[in-house]
Amino acid sequence: MRKVMTRREFLSAMAGLTLIGIGGYPFVRRWMSSQGPLSLPSPPTVAWNGNIKTFRYVIQRGPVTLQDGTRFTGYLINGQFPGPELRVQEGDKVQVTVVNQLDQPTTLHWHGVNAPSPMDGVPGISQDPVLPGQSFTYEFIASPAGTRWYHSHVYEMEQVPNGLFGPLIIEPKTTPEPYPTQHELTLMFSTWGYKPGAGIDYGMMGNTGMGQMMGGGGNLSSSNQGLTHLVNGKIPTSLQSIKVAPREKLRLRLINASGTESYLLAIDGGTMLVTHTDGNPLQAPRVVSELYIAPAERYDVIVTPPRSGTWYLRSSLAGQESVRIPFSTVGEVKSSPAVGANSWSYLITGSNSFGSLPAVNHSVQLVLSGGMMMGGAWTINGASYPNTSPVKVRTGERIRLEMVNRSMMEHPMHLHGHSFAITSFNGRVLNSPLIKDVVNLKPMERCTIDFLANNPGNWFFHCHNLQHMVGGLATVIEYKDYPLPHVDKWM
Ligand code: C2O
Ligand code: CU
Repeated sequence: MRKVMTRREFLSAMAGLTLIGIGGYPFVRRWMSSQGPLSLPSPPTVAWNGNIKTFRYVIQRGPVTLQDGTRFTGYLINGQFPGPELRVQEGDKVQVTVVNQLDQPTTLHWHGVNAPSPMDGVPGISQDPVLPGQSFTYEFIASPAGTRWYHSHVYEMEQVPNGLFGPLIIEPKTTPEPYPTQHELTLMFSTWGYKPGAGIDYGMMGNTGMGQMMGGGGNLSSSNQGLTHLVNGKIPTSLQSIKVAPREKLRLRLINASGTESYLLAIDGGTMLVTHTDGNPLQAPRVVSELYIAPAERYDVIVTPPRSGTWYLRSSLAGQESVRIPFSTVGEVKSSPAVGANSWSYLITGSNSFGSLPAVNHSVQLVLSGGMMMGGAWTINGASYPNTSPVKVRTGERIRLEMVNRSMMEHPMHLHGHSFAITSFNGRVLNSPLIKDVVNLKPMERCTIDFLANNPGNWFFHCHNLQHMVGGLATVIEYKDYPLPHVDKWM
């Protein structure tokens, strides 16, 4: 069996470090409660629509050759790298039988789906892993509608980038599609390869200074050496150009499946209309000039050709272009659209620094820290998973997590089993909270996220930079009266 470091080995390697006290950082202002009820994502179970969709996923190792000639032994699903797009309708009963032909345990996690806890795929928290030679049938009602994805939750740094991930698209059925388009395309970004300390370390930025960097400009030092950027499992320059008619509205379902890297996407001379955040429709779509997408985030955007001929969707971050996806207009574009849109931000739908937050039953403060200054361990309130304190909730409660990032790297924090509302960001209350399942915090950023405890179980809550997750930036949301997880068994 190939040697991979488990969480426990990693954590024992980290043992003996002195933890730095987190101090009394005034990270979340106290707001008055507002009158209005908080609008939160609907309950986890949309009614079964009577249809059953069954899939059989045989997982095995096998050779992969990238378009630049790079060869490696991937983790294949039905022979494919990465896994196939799973497309179902809201309310379908989805049954996926995973046949594990690896020499390692594995699972699949349905990222962004409010599945029942025993189907959530996190060993030691929600289910036992599927052992070599065994199979397991996942079953859940497809909900909520939107751009979701799936990936392994075992030996993630090995199994995910090497192939155990894919898009999961839940087409709306009981809820109407608010922004219909004629054509759509899924673009799933990922990285292959390994680089220690991947992601952008905002503490290693040289002379540009924090202020400039945080303003979005600057000359970041990139850390993408050692990583190959892929789109739908291919080297993007090898992609056939995507053909679009002059006035067509094309929906792109953008999924960042990279374990470490973010992308800053823009279209040459064009804009994007952001319609969904992590699969959930915005109350009003927003036109943006560029879109930052952190690991595990999804955005649905609608694009229209900005010009005739060829144009690109590019990611440039840290002064380097990492991805360039070719498009070509079939026909002539007469007038270019007026530009002048803003960059995407969580505050784009409007916010108020004197706004008030809705009342909740229970709020918990989580200080994210660690990294270089802690020898590579990552912490929540000073502890690394599995030593972090679980967040205990009761069914029916409205929960608020108040987070601040006190480290020099960004943390895309993901909650399993629930969508949440970003209710405030950097001290400003959002006028219309974004519904998401990942919130990215850059260094010194802070936010509040609210969710309704409506899906009893044990749920992982962690940074989706897989290196940080394995390094301990994780905790568990535990429902009272639900059997406790057996954390140690498989970690
Ligand atoms: Cu994509 Cu634990 O999640
Ligand atoms: Cu992180």
